[in-house]
Amino acid sequence: MNHPSPQARATFSPRVSRSMELYQRAEELIPGGTQLISRRPTRFAYGVSPAFFTRAKGARFWDVDGNEYIDWVSGIGAIILGYCDPVVDEAVLRQVHNGVMTSINHELELELAELLIETIPCAEMVRYAKGGGDACAVAVRIARGTTGRDKILFCGYHGWHDWYLAANLGADSSLNEHLFSGIEPIGVPRALEGTAIPFPYGDADALGETLDANRGEVAAVIMEPLRSAEPPEGYLKRVADLAQQHGALLIFDEVSTGFRPSAGGVQPVVGVTPDMAVFAKSISNGYPMGAVVGRRDAMEPASRMFISSTYWSDTIGLAAAITTLKEVAARDVPAYCRDLGKRLKSGIEKTAAATGVPVSSVGVDYHPHLQFDVADESLKTKLATLYIQEMAKRGCHGYASFYLNAAQGDAEVEQTMQAAAEAFALMAEGLDRGNIDELLQCELRQDAFRRLVR
Ligand SMILES: Cc1ncc(COP(=O)(O)O)c(C=O)c1O
Repeated sequence: MNHPSPQARATFSPRVSRSMELYQRAEELIPGGTQLISRRPTRFAYGVSPAFFTRAKGARFWDVDGNEYIDWVSGIGAIILGYCDPVVDEAVLRQVHNGVMTSINHELELELAELLIETIPCAEMVRYAKGGGDACAVAVRIARGTTGRDKILFCGYHGWHDWYLAANLGADSSLNEHLFSGIEPIGVPRALEGTAIPFPYGDADALGETLDANRGEVAAVIMEPLRSAEPPEGYLKRVADLAQQHGALLIFDEVSTGFRPSAGGVQPVVGVTPDMAVFAKSISNGYPMGAVVGRRDAMEPASRMFISSTYWSDTIGLAAAITTLKEVAARDVPAYCRDLGKRLKSGIEKTAAATGVPVSSVGVDYHPHLQFDVADESLKTKLATLYIQEMAKRGCHGYASFYLNAAQGDAEVEQTMQAAAEAFALMAEGLDRGNIDELLQCELRQDAFRRLVR
């Protein structure tokens, strides 16, 4: 899954030769080459996009070949204030000098819990973790323990753990419609078959039918409430009602939306309060941290469950999260990201119109993405790869989308629009001449998997 072909391995641009050397070494040393699928170079323009960085600051990073990039992926969403934010880093460094962990607990654990309870509508009690998948696994364990039921209905991506990948055990072709076929449940116990059941985003009737078919057995409905588009009118409220009618806990996985919709996450924006919610990534501006929050009656039974790990309450993650959340609110980062996104969207639309390339800019303002308006699916992938390739050559690293942070500003928008104008002009010419294939200097980018939400 997601590996370059032998031909691609042998050919890469001299501008990323050190990156590619390191990646080839990594493939020898690390099964899969990277720890995170989203960092595999095959997800970008393989052999043109950078693969290894040396340092990062603000909106940018520098690769091992000495090239400078605007990072439009914001550390796969984890960076909300910008790289090396001075306020967060100072809080972390203070903690480093005072001890990152000991054999007993630290008051910061309570301070973060109180802050989360103050800002997130569903939060009355809190548990911690170190990452998103980790936190989802904790939430699912709590839901199963609290309800005494086994089955989980899910929609969207929730990490790498057995409870989730169990959905692909014995999967038929209908499930392959939802998840990239490369996510094979290798190593997941067959005994878990039937315990995780996907439902399609946006269709409350379909969820109702799945709940009916598993009546009395569903512990939780876990979902990404939205990703890059607003939910259909009334949809999330119906989901909440259905879960409640069936005695299942509703869990919002807010790992990817994080604190960009509002300083209290997505709940104040969509007006629906789940029983529990999961946060990671942007909660702590790049330092490892995750949190599971929820109503007291949903969370409290966890006191009798075995959910325990050494690093979940290390003070680095706690200090980073407290400072990040306060800074997000104080700097009104959600409003900043919305405004930045609006400017990017209108810039992309204008640039596309000027070159005649069939591209539009869609999605919520804080997470816009490019839509290639052509009927042929394979041409869409080619255009997306060509865009990523040409933008990378011009110092803009990303997918055909923008994950925003507070350090990105006028200089980044200007440079990106200039690069997009040149990339779009090339794409328009390639479409006119029918030679897009010749313009591609890399293999087509590979999708990790298709998500169940828009
Ligand atoms: C919605 C959602 N849940 C869970 C995860 C897993 O988070 P992590 O990679 O920190 O384990 C992700 C990661 O992209 C995510 O987007």
